[in-house]
Amino acid sequence: MRLSEHPPIIVLDGPAGAGKSSVAREAARRLGLPFLDTGAIYRAITHVMLSKDIPPSDSPELRAALAEFTISFRGGRVFACGEDVTEIIRTPAIERHVSPYSALPAVRESLLDIQRGQRTQGLVAEGRDMGTVVFPDADVKIFLTASPEERAARRHAERLAKGEESNYDDILRQVKARDEMDTNRAVAPLKRAEDAVFIDSTGLSFEAVVSRVMEEAAKVLTPKS
Ligand code: DC
Repeated sequence: MRLSEHPPIIVLDGPAGAGKSSVAREAARRLGLPFLDTGAIYRAITHVMLSKDIPPSDSPELRAALAEFTISFRGGRVFACGEDVTEIIRTPAIERHVSPYSALPAVRESLLDIQRGQRTQGLVAEGRDMGTVVFPDADVKIFLTASPEERAARRHAERLAKGEESNYDDILRQVKARDEMDTNRAVAPLKRAEDAVFIDSTGLSFEAVVSRVMEEAAKVLTPKS
C-alpha cells in the first residue's frame, strides 16, 4: 500500500562511483518513473561557469549566471542554457572542478527549485543530498556505497571500455579527494539520511543491487493491477 498521496519519489544517495546512476536509471525504467541525475545538473553548472571564466566563489557574476541557468533532459541528452552538454560534462576537466562549485550555498540554493520542479510525475533521483535536503519526504531512501577501491576500479574499467586513457591510481586518488570534499563541505554534505536503507554494493552484482532497491520500492508502492 502506498503510504502517501504524491507521485512516488525514490531517492538514492551515495559517493561517486557507487553505481547510483546505473542502478537508479534501471529502477526508474522498471517502475515506469522519470529518472533524475542531479550530478549532471552540478556538472552542467560547472561547465557553464568554467566557460564564462567564473571562479568557484560567491560573486555577482556567479549569481547572474545562476539566475540565467536552465537545464533540460530530452531523449537521453542534457541541455544547459540550450547547449547540448551530454558529453562534455563527463570529461575529467569537469570532474576536477565540480566539487568546489557544488560546495557553494548559492549554487545549491538555486538548484533546489530546479530539482524539486522535476517531481510532478514522480521520479527516481540520485545524488548526494536527495534524502536529506531536496526530497526529505521521499517514499524510499537508499544510501548506496562501495569501497573507494571498488569504485575507482569501476571508473577505470568504464574509461578503458570507452577507449580513453586511464590510470587506476590517479582515479583512486580523485575518488578519495572527491569523497573528502563532498562529505566535509558545510552545506548539504554527503551523508546518510537517518531513514535511508544502507546498501554496500562492494562485491554485489548490478542485478543484486537493483533487486534490493526494487524490494524497498515494493514495500511502499501500490503494485499496478
Ligand atoms: O554523481 P556525480 O559524480 O555525477 O556528481 C558530480 C558532483 O556533483 C559530485 O562531486 C558532487 C556533486 N553533487 C552534489 O553535490 N549534490 C548532488 N545531489 C549531486 C552531485
